[in-house]
Amino acid sequence: MGTMIELPAIQTRLNDEEEQAILRVLREGKTLAAGPEGAAFEQEFAQFIGSEDAVALCNATAALESAAILTGLGPGDEVIIPAHTFVSSAVPFARTGATLVWADIDPKSRVISAATIEPLITDRTRVLVVVHLYGMTADMDPIMALAEKHNLVVVEDCAQAPGASYKGKRVGTFGDFGCFSFHSQKNITTLGEGGMLTAQSKEVARRVRQMRWMGNWPFEQERESYWKPAMGNIVEPGPGLWPHNFCMGEPNCAVGRLLIKRLDQINANRQAQAKRFKEALSGVPEIIFQEIPEGCEHVYHLMSSRFDGSAFGKHRDDLIRKLFTDYEMKCIVQYWPLYRTELFGKLGLGTAQVPETDRYFDNMISFPWWSDMGDELIDDMAQRINRAVEELRQG
Ligand SMILES: Cc1ncc(COP(=O)(O)O)c(C=O)c1O
Repeated sequence: MGTMIELPAIQTRLNDEEEQAILRVLREGKTLAAGPEGAAFEQEFAQFIGSEDAVALCNATAALESAAILTGLGPGDEVIIPAHTFVSSAVPFARTGATLVWADIDPKSRVISAATIEPLITDRTRVLVVVHLYGMTADMDPIMALAEKHNLVVVEDCAQAPGASYKGKRVGTFGDFGCFSFHSQKNITTLGEGGMLTAQSKEVARRVRQMRWMGNWPFEQERESYWKPAMGNIVEPGPGLWPHNFCMGEPNCAVGRLLIKRLDQINANRQAQAKRFKEALSGVPEIIFQEIPEGCEHVYHLMSSRFDGSAFGKHRDDLIRKLFTDYEMKCIVQYWPLYRTELFGKLGLGTAQVPETDRYFDNMISFPWWSDMGDELIDDMAQRINRAVEELRQG
C-alpha cells in the first residue's frame, strides 16, 4: 500500500505559462494592485461566463457580501438559503439583519431546488440564495420561475461550480448576482485567494467597483489642478452604503486570465475522472452518488456520496474509519448543516426542517479529489473502497 491519499489544499497546479505571467507582472507591471490585469480579467471573465459585467474581488465571500449589501435587505425581510452549504453563503445575508430561512436539498441532486424553496416563500421573502454545491448546477428554470412569480432577487453562489452550464448557459448568468471563488481548494485558484462577482447590469457592477476600494473613485467633473481638492474622490457606493476593501491583486488577476482559458478542459478532465471512479464503484450499491437532473451539469468540485450500510448494520463512520486505518485513505465529511453550528444557534437560527439535509450529511462521505489525479490513482482508490466495503459486509 502506498502513502495516505487525502484531499489536497491545492486542487489545480499552475503551469509554466501561468507561472511566467506572475513573473511578468512582478518585473514589468506598473502596479501590483488595481491595474490593467484586473480590468482585462473582469472583461474576459464576463465574456467567458456570458454575464453583462464582472468585478474582481478578493474572494467569493466578498462577492457574497457585496451582493447581500446591494439587495438592500434589512430586519423584517426573509432570505431563503440552503442549510447544506459553506458558511460564506449565509453570513453576509445574516449580517444585514434579515431572517435566514433554511431550505432543504433535493434528495437526488443534493442541491437546493424549486420544490424545497416553494413552501418557504412568504410575503416577506425578498432574496433567494442558490448554491451550486459540489460543482452541481441547481435546476434553474423552475427556480427562476418561482423567483419571477414572487419578485425575488436571486444570488447564485457559484464558488464550487465555475464554468458549469445549465441548459447551455453558464451559472452566474441566471440570478441578479453570481459569486465565484478562486480559493486554493477550488477548481481554479488565483494564488490561493480571489473571487469574482458577475452582475446583469453595468450600474450594479459600477456600485460594486465603488464599494470594493473604500469609495476611492475618479472625480466626474473637469478640474483645474489634478491634485485639488484631492487626488481622487471618495464616493458613497449607493444610498446609505458603506465602502469596503475587497480588492484583488494584479498577479492574481494575471493568473486568473490564463486559468479561465483552460477551465473547460480542467472541468472536462474532472468529469472524466468522475465517470471512471463511479464506474469502478458501480458494483457497490451502498455508495450512492448524486443524480444529475436533465439539463444540469456537474463539474465535480468534490466527489461525495451517501453511504448506506444498513443492510449489514454499518454506518458511514465505519467506512471512513476503515478506509483511514486499513487503506490509507482520508475521507472527509462536509457541509455541516449551518443551523447546527454554534454561530447560527446563537443567532436564534438553530432549528430547521431539513430532513434530506440531515439524512445526507449524517451519511455522507467525501473522497480525496483534485484535478489531474490520473487513471491509476482513480482505479487504486476505487479498489481500496471496494475492498473496505466488502470487509464491512462480512462484518
Ligand atoms: C459554497 C461556497 N461559497 C462561498 C465560499 C467562499 O469562498 P472564498 O473562500 O473565496 O471566500 C466557498 C469556499 O469554500 C464555498 O464553498
